Amino acid sequence: MMSDKIEKNGDKGHTAQTGYVLVLSDATAQAEYLASSILHHAEEKQGEPLRIALSGGSTPKRLYELLGSSEYADRMPWDKIHLFFGDERMVPHTDSDSNFHMVKESLLAHIDIPFRNVHPMPVLDDPAKAAEIYQAELQAIYGSKTLEKGKPLFDIVLLGLGGDGHTASLFPGTPVLQEKDKWVSWSQPSDAPHKRMTLTYSAIASSRFVMFVVSGESKAQIIREVRDEDKPYPSAAIKTEGELHWILDRAAGGE
Ligand code: 6PG
Repeated sequence: MMSDKIEKNGDKGHTAQTGYVLVLSDATAQAEYLASSILHHAEEKQGEPLRIALSGGSTPKRLYELLGSSEYADRMPWDKIHLFFGDERMVPHTDSDSNFHMVKESLLAHIDIPFRNVHPMPVLDDPAKAAEIYQAELQAIYGSKTLEKGKPLFDIVLLGLGGDGHTASLFPGTPVLQEKDKWVSWSQPSDAPHKRMTLTYSAIASSRFVMFVVSGESKAQIIREVRDEDKPYPSAAIKTEGELHWILDRAAGGE
């Protein structure tokens, strides 16, 4: 199952340009690699909570379905795993455009995870208020209102990549890209539906692992521009105190 290509770049914290690149043969192998990796990290924590920020969009759905399948549902220590959201569309959680809805359908409905371990982003008419509420929830769990170096907020942050170079709901030209203090904020992308709530760069950086999960030929060019050419896309500014991994299928990662 293990991949057939690993590149190593740098080791003091990572950026989108210096992270590891892993190219798996296809999207199925990609999901299997990620599921076994998450199980490995959960077991490695030996009973300590494992905090995962989930990404939305269509790409991670295959991973969530695998984690909810008979192959993994009973092997994962769900009572020790806390699931957060990297971003959300400001639509009801019952709406098919809701990231929470997608995760519920593909994963939560199939596993035995304590309700208190699932942390959906609240959806309110006032997205700034909703962001404040989610930030307060993260701060309560973290035990401080200040992110401390060496004390990561998240163990794993899963991120996707949009064709316009956005990730989470950090979209080109939106004010949230300049946010320095908040952990959670909101944005109104000009060419994507719905107001959005999103983790900020600071919250994403407070992580042990950032994993960009990207698949399909349509993403090959934008990956090159973000990784190799450091073009000024929101995703190119992603950093982590820990390790950054690009987990790609061959169509996205090329030979
Ligand atoms: C969202 C996501 C977003 C997503 C990219 C890629 O809520 O839409 O979090 O950042 O990851 O748009 O989406 P696809 O996986 O569908 O290509």
